[in-house]
Amino acid sequence: MPILVVAAGTMVAGPGKTDSRLWGENYIPNTVVRTQDGNSVRFYDDLIKGKIVIISFIYTSCTDICPLTTARLSQLEDKLGDAVGRDVFMISMTVDPKRDTPARLKEFSSAFQTGPGWTFVTGDADDIRAINYKFGDRSEILSEHRNEIVLGNDATGEWQRDSAFGDLNRLVMTIRGMDPKWRDQVRPPATDAATATALAMSNQPGQALFKKICAPCHTIGVGDRVGPDLRGVTARRDRAWLSSFIQDPAKLRAAHDPDAMALVERFPAVRMPAMGVARQDAADLMAFIDGETARLREAQGPDMPVRGDGGHAHHHH
Ligand code: HEC
Repeated sequence: MPILVVAAGTMVAGPGKTDSRLWGENYIPNTVVRTQDGNSVRFYDDLIKGKIVIISFIYTSCTDICPLTTARLSQLEDKLGDAVGRDVFMISMTVDPKRDTPARLKEFSSAFQTGPGWTFVTGDADDIRAINYKFGDRSEILSEHRNEIVLGNDATGEWQRDSAFGDLNRLVMTIRGMDPKWRDQVRPPATDAATATALAMSNQPGQALFKKICAPCHTIGVGDRVGPDLRGVTARRDRAWLSSFIQDPAKLRAAHDPDAMALVERFPAVRMPAMGVARQDAADLMAFIDGETARLREAQGPDMPVRGDGGHAHHHH
């Protein structure tokens, strides 16, 4: 932790500040690890050296809030656009290397449609633990892994912690700002379109919550993403079922609810997390989805049929 406080303080310092090189090749292990494509790479030399990186700590069997971290980072990847894989590299370290094989990481990353600038890393359990430990991820208990991310520029030696749950536009600025070349350029002030839209529509109950914790995985009317397109879901599902599913999908799965199990089969790679949504929030979210569906129906005609197997799921009863 103290290291990070010092590193954050060096953010404004120019190049040549040698004491900011607290991390780097003598600190970060250079052991051989495996990527989601099954390639063997050297951790420091191939993934970190000379690069600006965004590092997260995940495990694919997490039923808790953590898949939301990956979903938010996937939105960040979209916002960073072409810079990912060129100026900035994303790394997701598993904290469960025994279960998270390269194949499992591949399935997981594909569900989030991650691009080539984003590497998922596993390997020998002791090696992976040693790497995560160096980045401050020190819990032995899987469910305790925090949703913090680590940002670093190995070339300048600047490292800091951040969160995937704050404002993503702000995070984009922080990340771009780690590049000294980018800092030196003069830019027009950013127009905050996202904030403007949020304000304009803030009287819609459920919308802000949907945008923050549902939209990273779901669209309404733009197709399946990590989870199913939610257009029309308030009409095709029983209201009480929907409310309990949104509040705690893990509970329905644990009870082997047939509809919840059919959804698991349709979306095998990632489980929707239980995010502590209260009953009233679930009601607001349903009202929002309902309103959006109605708005789309007016604009584009009747609901599209649910694609794939999902169309059959609700005919069983
Ligand atoms: C990390 C990704 C993720 C997040 C975040 C997420 N979901 Fe899901 N959702 C899924 C997946 C995957 C499924 C498929 C079933 C499963 O995982 O159990 C699903 C299924 C659903 C379903 C069932 C759809 C149907 O066709 O019956 C609803 C409703 C739903 N989600 C609503 C929400 C709402 C509302 C939120 C925000 C509070 C949310 N989800 C957040 C991934 C996510």
